[in-house]
Amino acid sequence: MLDISFARPALPKSGALVLLAAEGEEPDAIQAAADSATGGAVARVLEATEFKPKAGKTCTILAPGAGLSRIVVVGIGKRADLTPRTAAEAGGTAAAALQREPAGAVAAARLTPELAAALAAGAALRTYRFDRYRTTEKAEDRPKLARLAVFADDPAAANEAWGTRRAVVEGARLARDLVSEPPNVLTPAELAERCRGLEPLGLKVEVLGPREMTKLGFGALLGVAQGSANEPRMVIMHWLGASGGTAANNGKGKRARAARPLAFVGKGVTFDTGGISIKPAQGMEDMKFDMAGAAAVIGLMAALAGRRARVDAVGLVGLVENMPSGTAQRPGDVVKTYSGQTVEVINTDAEGRLVLADVLWYCQEKFDPRCIIDVATLTGAMVVSLGHDYAGFFSNDDELAQRLHAAGEATGEKLWRMPLAESYDKLIKSDIADMKNVAGRPAGAITAAQFLQRFVNGKPWAHLDIAGTAWATKDSTVVPKGATAFGVRLLDRLVAEHYEG
Ligand code: BES
Ligand code: MN
Ligand code: ZN
Repeated sequence: MLDISFARPALPKSGALVLLAAEGEEPDAIQAAADSATGGAVARVLEATEFKPKAGKTCTILAPGAGLSRIVVVGIGKRADLTPRTAAEAGGTAAAALQREPAGAVAAARLTPELAAALAAGAALRTYRFDRYRTTEKAEDRPKLARLAVFADDPAAANEAWGTRRAVVEGARLARDLVSEPPNVLTPAELAERCRGLEPLGLKVEVLGPREMTKLGFGALLGVAQGSANEPRMVIMHWLGASGGTAANNGKGKRARAARPLAFVGKGVTFDTGGISIKPAQGMEDMKFDMAGAAAVIGLMAALAGRRARVDAVGLVGLVENMPSGTAQRPGDVVKTYSGQTVEVINTDAEGRLVLADVLWYCQEKFDPRCIIDVATLTGAMVVSLGHDYAGFFSNDDELAQRLHAAGEATGEKLWRMPLAESYDKLIKSDIADMKNVAGRPAGAITAAQFLQRFVNGKPWAHLDIAGTAWATKDSTVVPKGATAFGVRLLDRLVAEHYEG
């Protein structure tokens, strides 16, 4: 990860310098110093290019003199409108402009410590790259930025705020790594091992295999898994940051009574061929991302543990591979879910809801959570509905829905609420079982959510369908193209705003 440090503002003697420019504001001391050290180059170029410091606008001055390799002026709009989200975007824009430089500095005077840390987070998110499997790339073709100094009025306070944000950035980077891994490497068993690797953060990690799940009666999840040579797993991650867990106790040698936890559930289909209802060859390779919901939950749990969040939370992920084979489930099969309800499997490609059905029910039985949020690349229909900008979500609880929506706006991982209704629920009636796993083409994302709701036992619940937002085909300010880790920052924000302290 980009090596970030905080220091008091000073004009650097070499390297690249980013200046932040706000609308209607005089240049800060560093900009004035840079301008005079370069014989007025900064003011001259800004004038000649008619630079307007609107958010996202940049102006680059190459080899400006004074030993500097470049000066980049980044517009931040009106200072009074700055939020952690827009500060992160400024950091992302700055980092993108510095990719060719080994080291850079951002002059972030007049920012609160919180905003300076958010800016650093944006830079760290934007410079993510998955290069594990590149062996022949030449060094000169690689992005170079390795170190970034952030000049802040109170560097110690900014550094402390960064300590918290950094954990969330690392959670997002972990989620991106997992989604980027090829499906021959990241099998259900391997993904479970990666979860175990989080134990040093203070997470308790439990892994269930096919024998345990058979004993429990996970007929729906196991039906999806039965066509694959790679065994399924369910992973349960516990973070006890409120009740203490092993770290704290109530002073009498006893643990504080555990509160009901928040619960997060992720779809972890490590590869989705569609099964016997096989998908077309074109673009099938994209379906390695079908565990992005699980990756978001894993990244979130890593973030909560990494920043020692004062909350009790459980993260559960159902991990399977959906393959066609002689042992695969057939269209027409009827499976018995852990809840006892039966499902007629009309289409083996509607597998995510089958996996989630068992994990959702188990989560409620086992943990009696305060609320449950599931995250899944569930339907192509959601991509048709909202494209790649907003993820769609469904909820049986207006307060939870409102909180999620607000967290989306605050982080830029935006959500749009979709409806649940009895009339849609009717569409998944089956002639021979309690329900079928698909309805017709109309309202495909909604009927999938209705299916999930049949496995929600009256708890406040929300379902995030991230099929359109888990993977980006082009760079944006804080998210480079590829796996986005959509959900990590959003859900971390939800927890921080409403469920801690
Ligand atoms: N993982 C897919 C959803 C998906 C499809 C995400 C395309 C992103 C892009 C899911 O398992 C699936 O195959 N859903 C089917 C459901 C259908 C058979 C009712 C779909 O959306 O086509
Ligand atoms: Mn599918
Ligand atoms: Zn799928």
